[in-house]
Formats: sequence, structure tokens, C-alpha cells
Amino acid sequence: MSGEKTLATSLASSLAIASDHAGFPLKEYLKHALPDIDWKDLGPTGTDRVDYPDFAKKVAEAVAAGKAPAGVLVCGTGVGMSITANKIKGVRAAVVESECAARLSRRHNDANVLCLGARILAPEYAKEIVEAWLASEFEGGRHAERVQKIRELEASAHETHDTKFPNHPHHKPSKS
Ligand code: RB5
Repeated sequence: MSGEKTLATSLASSLAIASDHAGFPLKEYLKHALPDIDWKDLGPTGTDRVDYPDFAKKVAEAVAAGKAPAGVLVCGTGVGMSITANKIKGVRAAVVESECAARLSRRHNDANVLCLGARILAPEYAKEIVEAWLASEFEGGRHAERVQKIRELEASAHETHDTKFPNHPHHKPSKS
């Protein structure tokens, strides 16, 4: 998609970020190491034990609602954050451990949330991953067709589930 701005030059003038207790030190490091980014820190504020789904939800919902153009989530491995964030419609969260995967998650998957593992990555390398991610842009073309298939699957997922499994426990009995 030539002519489009990268996340770094357009969308990511502000980035939502959150972590759990394991990811907290890396969250703080990234904010300090990348001061030109307007970070919207959605917590936590310290290293007290918290549950990563609560903080993944905050960033994912902010991105899905357009309150933040993109987001960064940090936990011990990045895995729990990515699993949770991908439950939110419109979010394409990628957990990556290399600059290469970071670039490709933007170029091919149009990832809008980057998930990092504080117990996996050296802080300096995590910073490079964030920079590589922000500097990469979605290529569109055949990749846009594939991302569209993800959107279609996402749109039909709840509907399919509700139709096929009307008695599933997640369906609350209607009050009468
Ligand atoms: C917390 O101990 C750890 O489970 C969490 O940070 C994350 O790695 C989960 O995916």
C-alpha cells in the first residue's frame, strides 16, 4: 500500500499500553526508552499481582473503539495477552519474539496490537521490536483479502456459535 503512512508516522502518534505484574518493568522501560510516542498507559501502576486478561481487555477495547490507533501489551510471555486481546472484535494481536515477525505482523496481518513477553525478551531488544513494528506498514493486496477472511470469520463466529449451541452455558436464560 504505497503512499500510506506507517504506524509510526500516523496511527501511532499515540499508543495504548498495558501489562500485568510480570510485564510491568518492560512496560515502564518502553515508555522511557521511546519518549516520542504518546503512550496511553492503561495500567497497572505497580508490580502487585494482577490478572493479564483485565489489562488485555483495556487495550483491546481501546483499539477496537478507535480510542487508540494501536496498542502494546506486555505479560510474562505475551501469550496470555494475545489470546485475550484476540477475543475482541476488530483486534489482530500478534505475539512476536523477533523484529522479523514484528515487521511481518504489520506487513501481512495488519496487526494492531503487539504483545511482548517480558520473561522472554531483553528490554533493549523489545524496544527494537516495537520500533520495527511501528515502522512497518500493511502491504494490502493479497494480504488484504486474507485479513478480510479473518474479519468474516470473526463476524460469523458468534452468530454460528449461538445458532449451533443455543443451550451453551454462555447463553444466559432470558428473564420472563
Ligand atoms: C504471570 O505469571 C504469567 O502467567 C503472565 O504474565 C503471562 O505470561 C501469561 O501468559
